[in-house]
Amino acid sequence: MRGGKKNLRRRDLVFYLPVAVAGGFFLWFGVRVYNLGLRERPRPGEPVWREGPRVAVVRRGELGLWEARPFEYPLAQGPLRAFLLRLPAPAPGGLSLGEEHYIALSRICTHQFCTLNYVPDPEAGSLLYNFRHKRPFLGCPCHFGAFDPLLGGKAVYGPPRHPLPRLRLEVEGETLLATGHEVPLRPLEGGRAPCGRSEA
Ligand code: FES
Repeated sequence: MRGGKKNLRRRDLVFYLPVAVAGGFFLWFGVRVYNLGLRERPRPGEPVWREGPRVAVVRRGELGLWEARPFEYPLAQGPLRAFLLRLPAPAPGGLSLGEEHYIALSRICTHQFCTLNYVPDPEAGSLLYNFRHKRPFLGCPCHFGAFDPLLGGKAVYGPPRHPLPRLRLEVEGETLLATGHEVPLRPLEGGRAPCGRSEA
């Protein structure tokens, strides 16, 4: 009788264990697919800036449409790699000077700190990143995340959820300057700006 119960438990285990493993896998897979493709990612809102050094980046008119200039912005913890891009239309958190539209974005991926590349050719981007976009984007070589400069650095593909932090742009004479950065500076800072160190 006891042997029969034992056999029954073993038989149950042989049946339920693979079912539980398969169920767990499909649950994980479903959540992953939802997070990667279906769950809406946050749109960049009105930036909150933290004042910083004034760094000259380019002269007005130096960049053509959809051209990007890499630069480094000095921070206490080391230089922040960034891109300044000239866009065909205003972007949230960017700078517009008449018909000239610019945005400066951190190059540090908000997923896991990899350095982003600029992908000016969407066709090449669709091969390299397996992501077809209607315009140039910033792509991450680590897990193929993508960010759209025209949407203020919004994450549009892959694992990243948060948009790229923007750098504040100002014009002085004919020169465009970076004069601060958005807070929180993801992924270096995850939460809100420290009290008293930010301004609207
Ligand atoms: S580190 Fe950029 S997508 Fe993962």
